[in-house]
Parts: sequence; structure tokens; C-alpha cells
Amino acid sequence: MIETVKEEEIQKQYEYMEKIKDFGFSKKYFIDTMGCKLNENDSEKIAGMLEQMGYTEIDKMEDADIVVLNTCSIRENAEEKVFGKLGELKRQKEEKGAIICFAGCMSQEEHVVERIKKSYPYVDILFGTHNIYKFPEMLYDKLLGQKKVFDVWNIDGEVWEGLPIKREDTKSASVTIMNGCNNFCSYCIVPYTRGRERSRKPEDILDEIRNLAKDGYREIMLLGQNVNSYHGRENYNFANLLYDIDMIEGIDIVRFMSPHPKDFKDDVIEAIANCKSVCKVIHLPLQSGSTKVLRDMNRGYTKEEYLSLVQKIRDKVPDVTFTTDIIVGFPGETEEDFEDTLDVVKKVGFEQIYMFIYSVRKGTRAEKMENHIPEEIKSERFQRLKVLADNLIEEENKKYLGTIQKILVEGESKTNAEVLTGRTRTGKIVHFEGSKALIGSEVEVKIISEHVWYLKGKLVE
Ligand code: 5AD
Ligand code: SF4
Repeated sequence: MIETVKEEEIQKQYEYMEKIKDFGFSKKYFIDTMGCKLNENDSEKIAGMLEQMGYTEIDKMEDADIVVLNTCSIRENAEEKVFGKLGELKRQKEEKGAIICFAGCMSQEEHVVERIKKSYPYVDILFGTHNIYKFPEMLYDKLLGQKKVFDVWNIDGEVWEGLPIKREDTKSASVTIMNGCNNFCSYCIVPYTRGRERSRKPEDILDEIRNLAKDGYREIMLLGQNVNSYHGRENYNFANLLYDIDMIEGIDIVRFMSPHPKDFKDDVIEAIANCKSVCKVIHLPLQSGSTKVLRDMNRGYTKEEYLSLVQKIRDKVPDVTFTTDIIVGFPGETEEDFEDTLDVVKKVGFEQIYMFIYSVRKGTRAEKMENHIPEEIKSERFQRLKVLADNLIEEENKKYLGTIQKILVEGESKTNAEVLTGRTRTGKIVHFEGSKALIGSEVEVKIISEHVWYLKGKLVE
């Protein structure tokens, strides 16, 4: 689509937002965000549009006049939970006449839309991941009496700039740099729900980050399904972007997720080493340590290539640490394959491991594979991996004892309001006592004890 047409389209949506605002009612909204950081970022945009239309956010779903379920497709149990939530919303619809909106990755799945049409007729608005920007128009049509507004695009979305955004945090902000994925890992639904890769223009990203810096943000999380295939324009890749962001005054910490090991090129490694603001903790999804399983997953690297990439990064980036994603129980995974995964886990010594039990996704290549692993074997392997990971992570955490760490104070601990929480530059969560006035500033904390999930510290006066 031509840029000016797109600008006009966004302008049109602003007009719808104004019209709804002019209705002058004071209505409350609730967004339930499931899944990954990209979905969280999309929810911030949906919230931004609702605020622009005069709605106010509340944190209790049952009191809301408009409820948005921003859904995730990555695993089956997440999907089933959504249908449970939809069931709960029936009463709210009947008693209060709340407007029910269904959005996110699940909307892009045909069988989900069919099920909603058949069994949940009270869903008012349904939109997908490619046309979020059109939400004001859809809501306007609904408010004007249209019974149902369902609109999902199956074509690859464009990049839509200039939507309002309501950010969750005041110091740390997520910035989506690209959408979609071209990799088609055989287990993954994302290429089907988010379409092909498309990168935002460098100027748009840099402008957004400069404005965030002006508003007092200090930490940026760059988001994309495969950030190191970012391609902003001819001769401008992810490494260029990191260098340019590093020059922006006020931004002290830059994180990114997720890179793909197969696309991790030397220029990006050098950029990580050279850019002061870029966090030296790298999320490098392994998925499996077995070369055979990696091939069946269509990951594009072997066990040895993954390990040598880790070594190469370690050689060039002093003090670098790694976190990862691992799937256990992929079809055809033998005990030997699983032991290869344990072997890589031991060799790398990850700071954090996000572990997943393989879950069949409709329409993916792995769905049709033979030798699906029985549930009890999957669970047993998951437990073994968890025990190993916990022990190794606790061991890793011992290294921090007695050290002094720079921490950007993020807020109060969720379980104890007396305790502040933040993260080290390597991504470790640290709890320590201190005044709430410190939230948003950077402090020095001495680490006094370690646990699996966090470190405990004491403020250095
Ligand atoms: N089953 C289990 N885990 C999955 N992931 C993606 N698809 C599946 C699936 N079908 C995991 C991968 C990915 C993370 C976000 O979710 O590890 O990196
Ligand atoms: Fe899914 Fe693979 Fe793309 Fe990640 S790289 S989103 S796992 S297909």
C-alpha cells in the first residue's frame, strides 16, 4: 500500500476515535493480554486507542463495559483457557450488555473463528493481528447498532505507524521493530498467525525511541519474532539499528528478543560488544540439543553449530550470559535426543531457561509427523530438565554473591510491598529493601543471598 494511503487510513481512524469520544459517555475497559511481549505491545496500542476514545482502564473484568481478549495461539492449553474465559463473559454480556472483543493470534486461526461463530454468538467484535489499527472503526460500527463486526485479514499485514499507545511502565518500554516470521519451524503456529516478516523503517523506530527518552524512559526492549533478520532498508540491518539506538541520549539499557541462532551474524555480535547500552544477556532459543530433532524442527542449525555460536559470542563479548527456550517431547524425540538437550544445557550454563512441553498446533508440519511422544514421557522429561536447570541456575547465581550490581529499580515486589525489585544488567531479578522513591532510578546493590528465581541484595549507601 502506498504510504499516503496508509496515512489517510490512520487519519480516518483518528476521526472515528474523535466521534466515539464525542458520544461523551464514561465507559470502562479491561484488556486481558495473553502470550508474548509482542501481544503485550499490541495491547498497549489497543489501550491507547480506547483511552483516546474516552474509555478508562480498570483492573476487574466483571466491571468493564468493554472487554478485549488479546489471545495467544502458541500452545494448546492457552487456547482452551480462552474458551473458558469466553464462557465466563456470557453473564456479563447478558446482565450488563458489555461489548466483547476477541483479538490476537487465535483470531487468525480459521477453526477458532468457526468455533466462536457457532458456540459464542455474543462475541461482538473480532479482529486479527494485521488490522488492529482498524479497531476504532469496528467499535464505532458496533456502537451504531451493527450486530457483529468480524474482520480478519489473511494477507500479510502492512506496518501501521502513528497509533496512540498507552504504556504499562514509565521507565521501560517495548518497541516492536518487525512483525511476522519466515522461518516455519515445524512446531510453530506464528508464521500462520502473524504472517511474513516485515520490518519497520529505521526512522520510525528511532523517532519512537527518541520520544521515549524525552519522556523519561531509560530501558528499551526491542521486539520481533526474529530480530536479527531485521532489514530496515537497503544496507541497514539489526547491527546498524543497535548502533543508532546506542547514540540516543537517555537510553541506558537496550534489550532485544528474540534472535534466531541461524541468523546471528558477526556484525551483530560486534554491535553487542561495542554498544554500551546493549544488555549483555542474550536470549538464544535452543529448542532442542539434538541435531536430528533440530533438523525435524526446521531450525537451520546443528547442536555443534549452536555451541560454537555461543563460544564465538563469549569470545567477543566479555561477561555475556545466555537465556533460552527449550521444547521437550517433540515428535520422534528419543531418550538419546533428550540427553543431547541436557548436554547442551550443562555445557552452556544458561541464566534462565523457559521450558515448554511440545503441544500440537493445527496446520503445522509437526502435526502430521509420526511418533508423537506419550504425555507421561513428555512430563517425565520436562521434570528432569527442570531439576537440572534449577540446580545449574542456582549454581550460576552463587557467582553473584558479594558482588555489587547496578539495578534499574522497577517497582515493588509482587509478594511484599516493603521490598523493591529490579534486574541486573544480565537480567537477574534482585529483591532488596529501600524507599519507593527510588523506583525508576538506577542504584547499586550488594548481593547477599541467592535463590533459583531471584537474588537478594542490600542497597549500597
Ligand atoms: N509447543 C511447545 N512450545 C512451543 N513454542 C512454540 N511453539 C510451540 C509448541 N507447538 C515455544 C518455543 C518458542 C516459545 C515462544 O514457545 O520454545 O521459542
Ligand atoms: Fe516460531 Fe520459529 Fe518463527 Fe520463532 S523462528 S516464531 S519458533 S517459526
